[in-house]
Amino acid sequence: MSAPVRIECHRPGAPGLRRLRLDQVKQLLDQHSFWAQGRERAELKRMLSGSQAVVTAWRARQLVGIGRATSDGAYRAVLWDVVVSSDHQGQGIGRRIVETLLSSPALAGVERVYLMTTNSSGFYRQLGFNAADSQELLLWQPFSGSESG
Ligand SMILES: CC(C)(COP(=O)(O)OP(=O)(O)OC[C@H]1O[C@@H](n2cnc3c(N)ncnc32)[C@H](O)[C@@H]1OP(=O)(O)O)[C@@H](O)C(=O)NCCC(=O)NCCS
Repeated sequence: MSAPVRIECHRPGAPGLRRLRLDQVKQLLDQHSFWAQGRERAELKRMLSGSQAVVTAWRARQLVGIGRATSDGAYRAVLWDVVVSSDHQGQGIGRRIVETLLSSPALAGVERVYLMTTNSSGFYRQLGFNAADSQELLLWQPFSGSESG
């Protein structure tokens, strides 16, 4: 039987986050997302240290899922880059990642949590998110490139 999947929640600057191997993060995003492919290691490092919560999912020593959030700690937070490797999808790992992000210290008390998704709205609706019909998403994109997840 394969090892159970372990979920870890990292705060900015936490030793576990500094130890997170960027090549594993890069491989997961390159292979299992369409919007976060080709990100450079140095920028991934800045991305992780600039996130107020980072959640990782592990089967033994293999990184099988990730998700992160930025947050002001009181009013607004945004989820980013929720990805589960395709061979581990459909096992409740994505749900555990999002629930762990939402209950992390950086997000637990915030008034609103936003996210952008191209084709996974059904997944987030199951978790209690609703379409924000009263708001528009506007984009300023000085360096053209990535799409939302
Ligand atoms: C979207 C994603 C993160 C979901 O992770 P997952 O581990 O496969 O999802 P879970 O197994 O936790 O699913 C939780 C529930 O959501 C449902 N679900 C999962 N993906 C769904 C989708 N795209 N649409 C509708 N429902 C979905 C599952 O059926 C499950 O329902 P259940 O609890 O009734 O069985 C994963 O499929 C993924 O990484 N996809 C590629 C990257 C991506 O598009 N990420 C989203 C960025 S916004």
